[in-house]
Amino acid sequence: MPKVIVLDNLAQEGLDLLAAADGIQYKVQTGLKGDALRGALLEYDGAICRSGVKLTAEVLEGNRRLKAIVRAGVGTDNIDKPAATRAGIVVMNTPAGNTLSTAEQAITLMLAMSRNVVPAYQALCEGRWDRKKFMGSQVAGKTLGIIGLGRIGVAVAIRARAMEMKVIGYDPFLSKEKAQQLGIEPVDTVTEMLPSIDYLTVHTPLTEETRNLIDTPQVEKMKPGVRLINCARGGIYNEQAMVAGLQSGKIAGVALDVYAEEPCTDSPLFGMPGVLCTPHLGASTEEAQTQVAVEAVSLLTDYLTTGTIRHAVNVAAVDPKTMQSLRGYLDVAYRLGLLLAGCPSSGVKSCHVLYRGEIASRDTKVLTSAFTAGLLQHALDEEVNLINAEMLLQERGIELVTESRTDMGAFRSSMTVEITTDQGQHEATGTLFGQSMPRLVALDGYRLEAYLDGCLLLFKHQDVPGIVGSVGTTLGEYQINIAQMAVGRAGDRPGGEAIGILNLDGEPGSESLEAVRKHPSISSAHVIRLPKSGDLPAWLQSSEMGLSLL
Ligand code: NAD
Ligand code: MLT
Repeated sequence: MPKVIVLDNLAQEGLDLLAAADGIQYKVQTGLKGDALRGALLEYDGAICRSGVKLTAEVLEGNRRLKAIVRAGVGTDNIDKPAATRAGIVVMNTPAGNTLSTAEQAITLMLAMSRNVVPAYQALCEGRWDRKKFMGSQVAGKTLGIIGLGRIGVAVAIRARAMEMKVIGYDPFLSKEKAQQLGIEPVDTVTEMLPSIDYLTVHTPLTEETRNLIDTPQVEKMKPGVRLINCARGGIYNEQAMVAGLQSGKIAGVALDVYAEEPCTDSPLFGMPGVLCTPHLGASTEEAQTQVAVEAVSLLTDYLTTGTIRHAVNVAAVDPKTMQSLRGYLDVAYRLGLLLAGCPSSGVKSCHVLYRGEIASRDTKVLTSAFTAGLLQHALDEEVNLINAEMLLQERGIELVTESRTDMGAFRSSMTVEITTDQGQHEATGTLFGQSMPRLVALDGYRLEAYLDGCLLLFKHQDVPGIVGSVGTTLGEYQINIAQMAVGRAGDRPGGEAIGILNLDGEPGSESLEAVRKHPSISSAHVIRLPKSGDLPAWLQSSEMGLSLL
């Protein structure tokens, strides 16, 4: 039974859903860190968190059980995603649940800052009726600059337009047409908007590009009296530049919900006139917390019980229907990977995958991952699956090139995989007969038709009469039955180099292999072990409701 750990406070509605989930056990354990966190995670299949817990590379290191981490919220900056990917763990988030609440928080801070709501109330509490001191600024008719027009940025723009503000926006992924439909004036750079805005709000993730996006040079380009809001991530505004701008009077106000280091209870900005700060409350509404908790639980339980991936941030999501329709080719791809890994050579330098025919227009990325997983399966100590296979390949400096051609060739669909090693190349082409019968149709330039399952004996030989019979007799002497056999030659004529592939019912030992190799016309013979027909790794197995990637 899958076990789930909840690592941060989660709305009761989410916990109720977990309690009601069939076949799932869960435990809430908040405040975990370091070794205690690492140890606890070893016992669970899934984890749900918010932004409190830090799921670092050290914490995830060596975890072979955890399959998914779901962040109840948007930002996944508290999760080491490369480390999770390496460990084969899917990271998902709940991107939309707190959009409106966070947009409302940005608008709240903008209005409250403009009308001095907090210091005015503070003065009242201290017994002062001071109307002159708290002269405010109206937002209608003013210009709001928005950097980052994703879910929250757009929601802020719509609200600002409703308050009769002019909105200028910058987002490299927002088309001019979409911006215009929303009543946003698009600009090509942040710098372009700075001289004309009265307010600035940022709604981007914190990345290398957005860290210190607004620093002293940017502040210098702004209008005097500008007010800045940040409800996205601390660090996008440079704190020192904010302090200096407020001191010089260039900046009239700064309103922050987020900080470079959190929790943050000490900042040079706290207490400065014009500053208004909240402790990361953007998503702290009952509505948003209920929504993200319920969504996070559904994402995790769906994944653990049906393999459905939604809102993954470290892996391309493939819906169960697509997975089901690709299942046969996933099996082909995985078996071709295992086959090439079993060909005698070492020092893989690069891989090339060519998709031909109908399959070329499908989601070949997941097929490439299945091939890669097969290739690495027995080479690595760690668990290899669809999530981490490509990353593990990259980490070993192995180049991966894929190509898709919609022309059919000899088959309606086929895939050709090639590896280049220190000793040369190996190439195999596979296709699917019916819905679920993987077949090898070419190997190292030899055309044939072989089953891709069970124990295979591959032998290269001179294409002369009697070879197959002789190998069969030799194996018979060792009580090894041949289930299927295929032979292929490189060209059209007999007499040249050929290959034979026998599917054996039993395992040939070293003695029987030596006996086969002794035949004067056989140049090499080796065994490759593939899963039995229909046997798939756990992460490719079908279930009633879809495919499990686990
Ligand atoms: P989103 O992914 O929908 O939008 C982010 C947008 O930023 C995208 O459109 C992207 O193109 C844009 N962007 C990225 N880099 C950019 C750059 N260099 N310049 C301009 N635009 C850039 O995300 P969202 O749901 O709108 O969330 C935005 C931010 O708000 C995230 O950092 C999230 O973590 C944060 N957030 C904070 C709270 C809170 O409690 N304060 C709540 C929810 C989300
Ligand atoms: C988020 O990224 O979703 C927000 O910062 C809210 C939160 O941390 O809960």
